[in-house]
Formats: sequence, C-alpha cells, structure tokens
Amino acid sequence: MPVTNKSAYDVKDLGLAPKGKMRIEWAAQSMRVLKLIQERFLLEKPLKGIRVSACLHVTTETANLAITLRDGGADVVLCASNPLSTQDDVAASLVKDYHIPVFAIKGEDNATYYSHIQSALDHRPQITMDDGADLVTTILTKGQDLVPGIIGGTEETTTGVIRLRAMAKQGVLKYPIIAVNDADTKHLFDNRYGTGQSTVDGIIRATNLLFAGLKVVVAGYGWCGRGFAMRSRGLGADVIVTEVNPTRALEARMDGLRVMPMAEAAKIGEVFVTLTGDKSVLRKEHFEAMNDGAVIANSGHFNVEIDIPALEELSTAKRRVREYVDEYEMADGRKIYLLGEGRLINLAAAEGHPASVMDMSFADQALSAEYLAKNSKNLGPKVYPVPTDLDEMVAKLKLESMGIAIDTLTPEQVEYLASWSEGT
Ligand SMILES: NC(=O)c1ccc[n+]([C@@H]2O[C@H](COP(=O)([O-])OP(=O)(O)OC[C@H]3O[C@@H](n4cnc5c(N)ncnc54)[C@H](O)[C@@H]3O)[C@@H](O)[C@H]2O)c1
Repeated sequence: MPVTNKSAYDVKDLGLAPKGKMRIEWAAQSMRVLKLIQERFLLEKPLKGIRVSACLHVTTETANLAITLRDGGADVVLCASNPLSTQDDVAASLVKDYHIPVFAIKGEDNATYYSHIQSALDHRPQITMDDGADLVTTILTKGQDLVPGIIGGTEETTTGVIRLRAMAKQGVLKYPIIAVNDADTKHLFDNRYGTGQSTVDGIIRATNLLFAGLKVVVAGYGWCGRGFAMRSRGLGADVIVTEVNPTRALEARMDGLRVMPMAEAAKIGEVFVTLTGDKSVLRKEHFEAMNDGAVIANSGHFNVEIDIPALEELSTAKRRVREYVDEYEMADGRKIYLLGEGRLINLAAAEGHPASVMDMSFADQALSAEYLAKNSKNLGPKVYPVPTDLDEMVAKLKLESMGIAIDTLTPEQVEYLASWSEGT
C-alpha cells in the first residue's frame, strides 16, 4: 500500500527519492547473498504479517535489508540509529518507491531523534532490530506494555551487544536477542574491513588529508581498530596504537605498530581516531598535550569516546571550517579540529560501509529474523548467538557469489580430524 498519510513517515524531502532509488539499486548489485535470501523470502514469506521495527543507520544497504524483510512478508518501519547517519535520499525513496515508512532526517536534534524512535515503536513491533540497543532500551524504560507482543530482537553492533548482555545479567532484558554482531560473518568482515575502509574514507572526505606520512593514533585495537590501522598503514601512515588490553596491545606491536599510552601519543599524533566503545578516551589532559592542527575523530558507536564538553570548556573560540570540521581554538592559540561532531565519522562524512560487506551483516540479520519467527517459543530473555549453521551458510554463499571455490575434507581427513589415536 502506498504511504500517503504524512504522519506515517518523517523524512527530509520526498523529492530526493529518484536519487535515493538509484543509489539503493547500485548497492543491491553488490549484495548478492542478500539477494538470494530475498528471492527465497518472496516465495516462502517466512515473516508473513510480522511487524518489524528497525533502528539502523538509514543507508542504501539498510534499504536493501528493509526491502528483503518486506518481501519476506514483514510489515517494516525504519528509524535512524544515529542522528547524523541518515541518507536523506534513501529515506525518501524507501517511503516513496518501496512504501516502507521511515522516520529519520540527517542532522536531526536529540529530541527529534528520540521522537523518531518512539514513532518506530508506535508500530508495536513483534521483532526489534537495533544498532546500539536504543529500541530495546526505550522499550524497557518507557514501553513495557509492548513486551508481551514481542517475540525477539536482533542487535547489529558491539556496543549494543555489550549493553544487552548487561541487561541480561541484571535480569532486566525481557525478550530474546540475537547478537548479529558476534557472528563470524559479521564482525570479522564488517567491523574490520568495513569500518577500516569507511573510516579512512570519512576522514579523507571531511579533510582531504594525505595519509602518506601522517602520524595516525588509533585508540582501540579491536575489530574496528585493527581494520582502520591496517588500511591507514596501507596508505603510508605512521600508525600508533593505544590500548587497555595487554593482549591486543601486544598484537598491535607484533603487527609492527607503535604502542604507547594516550598521554604519550597525544604529544606526537596528527590524526586521532577512537574505535573503542568506551567513553572519554580522548579527554582534557590529551587536548592540552596535542599539537596545533591536531585532528580528532570517532568511529565507535556513541559520541562519548571524545570528551566534547571538555573540549568546549578548554576552547576560547569555535567555528565550522568545512562541512564536517569544527575548529576549536585553545587559550594558547593552538587549534584542534573535531570531525563530524564526534559521531561515527564513516557515516557522518562518508557513506558507511560498502555494500559488499554489509551484504553479509544484513544476510545475518534477515536470517536471524527468520530464525526468531520460527523458534522464538524456545528462547528466553537472553542474548543468543547467530546459529553456527546460518553463519557458515552466509560465508559459503558469499564465497560462491565471488566465484571462489574451496576444498572439502576427504572421508579419510574427516576420520583423522575426529580421532585422538591417529597421527602417532
Ligand atoms: N563505525 C562503524 O560503522 C562501526 C562498525 C562496527 C562497530 N562499531 C563500533 O565501534 C566500537 C568498537 O567495536 P569493535 O567491534 O572494534 O570492539 P572490540 O571490543 O573488538 O574492540 C574495542 C577495543 O577497544 C579497547 N579499549 C577499550 N577502552 C579503551 C581505552 N580507554 N583506550 C584504548 N583502548 C580501549 C578494548 O580493549 C578493545 O580491544 C564499538 O562501539 C562498536 O559498536 C562502529
């Protein structure tokens, strides 16, 4: 049914739809695993009549997921999972061309952001799809009446999974959640190669800096940090890593990178990027030590990794010098440049992860929604992994879509690997 009621959606400008449609179709070309799932969903309708509220970055890739869920029979609405990550043309096209209600406008203020989350919840979801657990958190704090109707939810990112595990541990989680982030076909690829490339892309689009020879400080050597460090080094940057986890710090060192505390790195770095899921990783004492012209950005989920209030307090003047660059002038005349208001720079200043990698993440999402629809009765209010067979199937289909064949175990090898008495 066409969406005609204005209150049924809230997007910037429906006139942007033609551009959004072309970009959605462009992304679809690189999402061949999701396409296979979509074709099956069209025939089998595994989500028939199920109301899905999705709170995800409103990008071309998310559009293809929403269309796949709709084709599987779901009644889908979408809101943004970050105020700066919405692609307004995509939001417009989803409403106009695909008749999927969207509540998201790039640059919306906090009040609008949360009112859009509320609009997505007014849909009375049976499945929630989160990127950062904002839907679940809002349901638990303000929408408990929705809980009896919910069969389950999915979570896309590391920070969300951490929040949800904390809820489960404290006994406040009310329905099963599938931790899509933790699937191998998600974090090994999306967090590493997706965040790696798109964070570089966001910084370059925001600043036009040359990475070759640049001293880049990477805070956090997890999946995202490793990816970003690897890609920065590939462009010729001198990469310095800061960590709090000794094993990860050691890994960074043995990957050939310099490792030191942020207090030391602050004096040396030219570009600083936080990818930790933690708060106040860059703070007052670091801003005080930074050189004139230092550029700071975040690619972790929330905009708390850089202590922006401390930066505001230290500064005597602030101006926007490029679209995604705010210049903060310190009392001693030094200037520090904050990118994308401290929000995920790959989504604020660039287009987020390339479609080819989101193909796997969103295949995991679609299959997890189907799994919930079939199995929710057997699941309790806990955080569950994506079933291994689904995760492996996504890897297999992705390889096939890339035209890559691999070996299979011979019967003799199967026996050998299952035995403890062989090999003597
Ligand atoms: N930008 C994106 O599009 C995108 C994509 C995926 C995930 N994320 C987000 O990025 C963040 C990191 O995700 P991940 O999968 O790499 O997590 P991860 O758990 O694999 O890695 C985080 C690393 O940060 C380190 N860390 C924590 N506090 C630190 C501190 N104070 N200083 C230095 N290091 C610290 C941890 O020890 C860990 O090694 C999360 O918030 C996640 O939700 C963003």
